[in-house]
Amino acid sequence: MPTFALHTYGCQMNVRDSDILARRLRAKGLTEAETEDEADVVIVNSCSVRGKAEDKALGKLGLLCATKRDRPNRVIGLTGCMAQRLGADIFKKLPRLSFSVGPRAESLIPQFVERCLETGAEQLCDFEVRDAPPETPEMARDDLSRLDCLNQGKKADKADDEPVVTVAAGPVQSFVTILYGCSRRCSYCIVPSVRGEEQSRDPRDILLEVKAEATRGVRDVCLLGQSVMRYGLSRFQWPEDIPSPAGYTEPMPRLLEYIAREVPEIPRIRFTSGHPNGVTAELVHAMANIPAVCPHLHLPMQSGSDRILKEMNRGYDSATYLDAVRRLRAAIPGIAITTDIIVGYPGETEADFEATRRVMEEADFDNSFIFKYSPRPGTRSALLEDSVSDEEKCRRDAILLADQDARGLRNNARWVGRIVEVLCEGPSLRNAARWAGRSPQNKIVLFEPDDSVRIGSFVRVRVKEAHAQTLYGDLVRNSSAV
Ligand code: SAH
Ligand code: SF4
Ligand code: F3S
Repeated sequence: MPTFALHTYGCQMNVRDSDILARRLRAKGLTEAETEDEADVVIVNSCSVRGKAEDKALGKLGLLCATKRDRPNRVIGLTGCMAQRLGADIFKKLPRLSFSVGPRAESLIPQFVERCLETGAEQLCDFEVRDAPPETPEMARDDLSRLDCLNQGKKADKADDEPVVTVAAGPVQSFVTILYGCSRRCSYCIVPSVRGEEQSRDPRDILLEVKAEATRGVRDVCLLGQSVMRYGLSRFQWPEDIPSPAGYTEPMPRLLEYIAREVPEIPRIRFTSGHPNGVTAELVHAMANIPAVCPHLHLPMQSGSDRILKEMNRGYDSATYLDAVRRLRAAIPGIAITTDIIVGYPGETEADFEATRRVMEEADFDNSFIFKYSPRPGTRSALLEDSVSDEEKCRRDAILLADQDARGLRNNARWVGRIVEVLCEGPSLRNAARWAGRSPQNKIVLFEPDDSVRIGSFVRVRVKEAHAQTLYGDLVRNSSAV
């Protein structure tokens, strides 16, 4: 049987797409290779969001294609956002590449792999932007009865400058895409052009997939969409036969309520990425009142300068953003709010940057992912001069990181002495004597396990020490000790 390896760059959606691709390949009889070197088929699932992400994938593909000199039958494929952006031009750069497939044509990949393996065909491609892949709900149905075909979930390749994955897929945590594409037009962003217009999935298909995840032991599901709160807001009708006992009228709160009700085996539900304009009264109510919905929200702010936010076409100003944060904090005590920031957007002045620093402090983020602006071909901001030097971008990046470290430490210190419920993920990578898990706020908690601790079990940990990114604590063994 041929073996395969997947190499994933980019965001959670790519992690999820790789998961599904691995299942599809297994269903075709391929098995996962022990190491990438051994694999007969290697597929690079790429990201286009910044230039560096593309450079990495291209470098990797160059090395992989070079191995075809000695192993001409090896199949090397490209998928994901960079495949879509470069189209058939990729074959000019990499003539030995076996196939290239865009993110909305991914269901074709297993056929392409088969053809390449059988006939040695090369340069197959498909970049059509299709509606939601029809196979996914079918596969979910299959998965309920064929658990062995499910993959354990792998972290995306997380390079230093790309901390895009804020929730890593693992044996107890996983992602389910609910909204494909994006119809916002942020001036700097390549995603809409490579992932197509937004399209919401049917809640019944989503439910099947969430149930399949529960059956394989997942206890924490993160619902994915580029602007996830737009779920159900265009070309969509919520099915009449799915009621909302709480009386929600908006699709996102209805979906949260529906999943929580129908899949009690999943005690933790999250969703990402948020947008301040989607923080409606109903959504806040759902987050506050549905026990399974975690007190955690990733709410990219991008900038604290109203002028830059306008240039970015984000659709809000800093006051609207802070108001959303205030309403969330008022309704959901202890909620963790994280964000994305871009430094060095064209024309960003020192005053704009200082505004970002101020608003970040006011929003009191638990964590922030800072990105240096990277012009993307075909986006509106790429027409502007990339006026902030790389050196200056690095300086601003370092300042925001240092601010966030101090803020993260201060925020985490509030947990010292308190008991948190931790979903156990397994031994810590750095020190196997310790176990790692996550709190409902998605904070990583490290503790010394006892014999009763299992992957996927919930334990209570009293926090004794806080770092900027991590909490340390002791197991609380006796429930009466609260
Ligand atoms: N859909 C999500 C974000 C997807 S991309 C959202 O809108 O919230 C993840 C992050 O990458 C973005 O939030 C942004 O901070 C960053 N990013 C996107 N385009 C970028 C660019 N051209 N240069 C630098 N960072 C960028
Ligand atoms: Fe890009 Fe904006 Fe869509 Fe996010 S919401 S994917 S930043 S266009
Ligand atoms: Fe990258 Fe595509 Fe995700 S561009 S961030 S992999 S949607």
